[in-house]
Amino acid sequence: MSQSATGAFDALFHENRKFPPSSEVTAHGNISDPAIYEQARQDPEAFWDARAREQIDWFHPWNQILDWKPPFAKWFIGGTLNASYNCVDRHAHGTRANKPAIIFEGEPGDQRVITYAQLLEEVTLAAAMLRHLGVQKGDKVAIYLPMIPEAVISMLACARIGAPHTVVFGGFSPDSLADRINDCGANFVITADGGWRRGKVVPLKDNADEAMAKTDHVKRCVVVRRVGDAAAIHMDPDRDIWWHDAEAQTRAAGTTDCPPEQLDSEHPLFILYTSGSTGKPKGILHTTGGYMVQTSLTHKWVFDLKENDVFWCTADVGWVTGHSYIVYGPLANGATCVLFEGTPDYPDKDRFWSMIAKHKVTIFYTAPTAIRSFMRWGDEFPARHDLTSLRLIGTVGEPINPEAWIWYHQTIGGSRCPIVDTWWQTETGGIMISPIASLTTTKPGSATFPFPGIDADIVDEQGDSVPLGGGGYLIVRKPWPSMLRTIWGDDERYKQTYWSRFENIYFAGDGCKRDAEGYYWLLGRVDDVLNVSAHRIGTAELESALVSHPKVAEAAVIGIPDEITGQAIAAFVTVRSGIVADDALAQELRAHVAKAIGPIARPKVLRFTAELPKTRSGKIMRRLLRDVAEGRVTGDTTTLTDPSVLAEIRSQYEATEG
Ligand code: WTA
Repeated sequence: MSQSATGAFDALFHENRKFPPSSEVTAHGNISDPAIYEQARQDPEAFWDARAREQIDWFHPWNQILDWKPPFAKWFIGGTLNASYNCVDRHAHGTRANKPAIIFEGEPGDQRVITYAQLLEEVTLAAAMLRHLGVQKGDKVAIYLPMIPEAVISMLACARIGAPHTVVFGGFSPDSLADRINDCGANFVITADGGWRRGKVVPLKDNADEAMAKTDHVKRCVVVRRVGDAAAIHMDPDRDIWWHDAEAQTRAAGTTDCPPEQLDSEHPLFILYTSGSTGKPKGILHTTGGYMVQTSLTHKWVFDLKENDVFWCTADVGWVTGHSYIVYGPLANGATCVLFEGTPDYPDKDRFWSMIAKHKVTIFYTAPTAIRSFMRWGDEFPARHDLTSLRLIGTVGEPINPEAWIWYHQTIGGSRCPIVDTWWQTETGGIMISPIASLTTTKPGSATFPFPGIDADIVDEQGDSVPLGGGGYLIVRKPWPSMLRTIWGDDERYKQTYWSRFENIYFAGDGCKRDAEGYYWLLGRVDDVLNVSAHRIGTAELESALVSHPKVAEAAVIGIPDEITGQAIAAFVTVRSGIVADDALAQELRAHVAKAIGPIARPKVLRFTAELPKTRSGKIMRRLLRDVAEGRVTGDTTTLTDPSVLAEIRSQYEATEG
């Protein structure tokens, strides 16, 4: 664990303010008896069995709750269901038929409200269209769209016909899209002519064209018209088709009927790529039954969802938070969800607050990095709007510092809204450690306790549970329904990454401490994964992007603390002989990384160095680079091949820093 994480924790440990749930929230809570924790602990399978019956409509019930052949789990074996049926059909015919499922606002301010009855029509037609274009059960569909209703509709349409989707964040580069298409063998792509970002068009179709030129997999590409004349689009007549034309063709062919497929509980629902500490991003595989049970249940209990809530999760559907808490969890619960294409500061820094006032949002779920930006921008922006519709607010994606928590509570939550700080990961599928709004007394900066049925713990190097008051590695001992099933196409890497640090125990990659009352305090990653603005980026990916530049010999990347983004990227680069390492090259390399991965990966700091500190076995010692960047006296350097390298780097770093 880095020293800075431990230092931050020492400050946290003195945080002893407590916020109990109000008696009103407790009295009407979806879950009101804390005994549920103990019941679930004694018999987790019985707990999940009961929840699976309550939460989800199954075509056929399961005959076995869990099959656990470490580290491979199957849940609700023999059960069949359909995620799109649970998110749409079952709400579309009853009292929720005219209830808004999606309240969409585009960046330019255009709005669209889609009721559950309309969503059923849209999803059915889109699913029929995909079939018409040749998509079959089991085919992979890459979705590369802005935050527009078609993104949600596409995901649900894929789920309806049993075609696993892989959503690629619209901010990722053509290379990143091509890598993902190649890795999972996606034969179909759904994209748009463009998306709006701060008044400009993001050329999604151009990017997709560039990506498709790098793969032989793609047979058809469907293009949503989003920006219209603002983008000049090239259409390949054999491959590309406009979404509206494809739908019209489907109608003309009379093939619009598309009932939900009855899918096995373990049928793949989606593959979502995330960064790891080594190699290329990993395709995290989630299946249907367990994922739907846990995402819908956590959404209902953690946020204490009520029928009239307007739920707004500000994540992009390209990340797991968007999958689980914009699409599958909330829609399975028949909730009204806000979908927003834009950014918090466009056209002005009050955009989020104007959205909350306009759409009467009651539950707001965002990332600490956004909260820290809001704090810095000042209270005048939220003060412009009526935020009294809010009754509960949440955070996800990184640790929240107590100051930001208190600011969020007072300025956005009007000192009346409970805050749920939810810890989970792409791999866990759903929330794992979090308050339950109707039960839990919160402490600013703590994600509080593992959710019922989740057997999390904190262990030392040997895998032994640490006593209260201690810290170590966050692990999960027993399988949970929405856990990843494997890394797509690489069972071995799955075992190695998650289940081998401690045998047959899930290793999350996070450091954590537990206070005297058993509250969990997350400390950030303990591996070489950075968390920049609540987005995961692997140092290995960044380094390979840098060394792909012809002027670069070697590169090492570390995270440095940043007030707004949590961590920022710092790169140390050695250039090839004869190359002049100047400011222009530094700019060129930063742009090169942004182009290779996406703008979120652009290093904030880039330093040239004659050599990198390495162990005798040739491993780059990132720990020492972190010490340099954070101005610490460096620790043990005896394993270095050449200790003088470090003094050199330090003097260079400090010279350029000032
Ligand atoms: C971090 C996002 C502290 C953590 C859902 C984890 C958090 C990684 C929290 C997963 C939280 C997420 N407090 N840290 N409430 N939530 N993290 O896969 O380091 O994008 O391992 O999933 O984010 O990021 P991912």
